[in-house]
Amino acid sequence: MTTKRTSRAVAKSVPSLHPHVLVLHGPNLNLLGSREPGHYGLATLDDINRVLVSRGEAVNAQVETFQNNHEGALIDRIHQAAHDQVDFIVINPAGYTHTSIALRDALAATAIPFVEVHLSNIYAREPFRHHSYFSDLAVGVVSGLGAHGYELALEYALRHLPNRTSHGSQKTEKAH
Ligand code: DQA
Repeated sequence: MTTKRTSRAVAKSVPSLHPHVLVLHGPNLNLLGSREPGHYGLATLDDINRVLVSRGEAVNAQVETFQNNHEGALIDRIHQAAHDQVDFIVINPAGYTHTSIALRDALAATAIPFVEVHLSNIYAREPFRHHSYFSDLAVGVVSGLGAHGYELALEYALRHLPNRTSHGSQKTEKAH
């Protein structure tokens, strides 16, 4: 059986003492600000990313953001995250939430803990949005709190990151 710890050890490269969080945005989220503001609000993706990156800087954490409209590009970025020793992922899979077994499999394969974020409350919308291929693997889900949901997910990640030692090994703190 492959444990989370084993698969991260396989992906080991240069260890960093700084927490490393990757924020992934799925398809159409590049249009935030003008896209269906009744569901997604008026903040642009740049607005959202700026807040997250500066929060990371304030606590000496590396917060990287990545948006793509293509499933394969998001999958490749998750594989890369394992090589880069990313500690935690915050992901809004957007439309892929409801369709993508391949994206789910990428997160399962790398075993990097993640929080699933949705700007809108997917359970208060059309029935096809009620099912997520990610939620049962996620540490948690934030849905319906708009852009603030990303900040809450990042705050959670920063509090519950594995403790790194100066030798690069990790002690995982059980969240909750
Ligand atoms: C979304 C909800 C999805 O159903 C939708 O396809 C999106 C955005 C959200 O953030 O509310 O693109 O993930």
